[in-house]
Amino acid sequence: MSDKDREKWNRKYLEKPTLLEERPPSEMLVFHLHLVEGNCALDLACGSGRHTRFLTEKGFCVDAVDISSIALDQLSKTLDSKRVTLIEVDLDSFTPQEGRYDLAVMTNYLDRKLIARTAESLKSGALFFIETYMEHPENEKKDSNPDFLLKAGELKTLFDSRFTEIAYEEFWNESYELYKMRKQAIFVQKK
Ligand SMILES: C[S@@+](CC[C@H](N)C(=O)[O-])C[C@H]1O[C@@H](n2cnc3c(N)ncnc32)[C@H](O)[C@@H]1O
Repeated sequence: MSDKDREKWNRKYLEKPTLLEERPPSEMLVFHLHLVEGNCALDLACGSGRHTRFLTEKGFCVDAVDISSIALDQLSKTLDSKRVTLIEVDLDSFTPQEGRYDLAVMTNYLDRKLIARTAESLKSGALFFIETYMEHPENEKKDSNPDFLLKAGELKTLFDSRFTEIAYEEFWNESYELYKMRKQAIFVQKK
């Protein structure tokens, strides 16, 4: 586990507890959830768990993965569910189990190699939802690490012919976020 990343995120959550407040799930996820068959889901970099919470309310079992013990503690306190497995791990070295999931979710986090590994963890017919920040001249946060920002249209290029695109959007982030940032979101289905 990368102690540096873990300390960085734990410090961030301690210094800005508003980041742990309950937030609504992504609208695109809510809109397309009915397409998912089966109930085994993976929430990558789950944070305080807005999607884990939403998915368990909808009857899913969720493997919720994050490096921050603070975020996972908060999630375990606020979640009244035996349907969740909390996994405290560095995603840089995490490979989800092959062929296990009906749905994978990665939001406000970007690891291109993890996307490729997660593609293998999906069953045939499963869905993968990704939503995160992209490069844009009007982004208010100017010191973002460019490695963690998508290029224009990039999400559309990350999936091979085993996947069908269900929906794609570019839009401005939610008003509760600290900085105005452009985002991309994609919903794909594995054939
Ligand atoms: C901006 S939050 C996103 C939380 C949630 N997905 C959402 O959309 O509300 C990013 C999360 O990524 C986690 N994270 C950062 N680096 C990580 C790593 N290397 N491995 C696992 N989790 C990591 C942080 O702890 C944090 O909870």
